[in-house]
Order: sequence, then C-alpha cells, then structure tokens
Amino acid sequence: MPTTLATSTCKHIRARFEPTFPHTNKPVCKTTASNIIFNGKTLSHSADSPSILHSLERQGETPAYQCREGFCGACRATLKQGAVQYSHEPLAFVRDGEILLCCSTPDGDVVISSDDL
Ligand code: FES
Repeated sequence: MPTTLATSTCKHIRARFEPTFPHTNKPVCKTTASNIIFNGKTLSHSADSPSILHSLERQGETPAYQCREGFCGACRATLKQGAVQYSHEPLAFVRDGEILLCCSTPDGDVVISSDDL
C-alpha cells in the first residue's frame, strides 16, 4: 500500500499514483476452488485465496513480484489455458495472453507459465 504517496501533499502525485480501488488482502472476486498448473506443476487455488500469486506462494512456489498491486508488471505470466478475473483493473502493461499473478484469481482451472517470459 503506497501510504507514503497517499499522505503526500502534492495533489498531482496522489492523482497519478494513488490507487483508485480498495486494496485488500481479502478476496474481492468471488472465486471457487480450482486447479492451477504452474510451470507444469499441478497446484490448487482455494476460494479464500486473494490471488494466484498468493496461492502459488502458499504451496512453495516463488514467482517474481514487486508491488503486489498491479502496478509494476513484475508478476507477469503467460496464461496458456483458462481464464482469470482481476480484483481491480491493473495499471501494469500486459500483452495479449499474459496475466498478472498478484491481482488475479482463476476463473476455473488454468494453465500458467512464467518460464517463457
Ligand atoms: S507484483 Fe507488481 S504487478 Fe504484480
């Protein structure tokens, strides 16, 4: 949470960087339990997990990340199969076929790869 920027006295900085969505570690989207095949390994996503990144970490995976809020793009991965939902509109650039692990949840079973980025 960018509290430093949120308390800045500069309106322009706040307008540019302050998130326009309520950040929370609680799930925003309604998700159901599903399977995540990540770099060939079958893992699970529980309905109470706030993001795919969270689910992967909980099961010992160490995907790249920085901000965990959809700003930086460090957690980009390729969605090879399935669909995801975003808890909020991410600001980071993603190409077609890519997703951000930190702010998305699977919409059913998904196949994801970070090896090819
Ligand atoms: S970690 Fe920064 S966009 Fe996901």
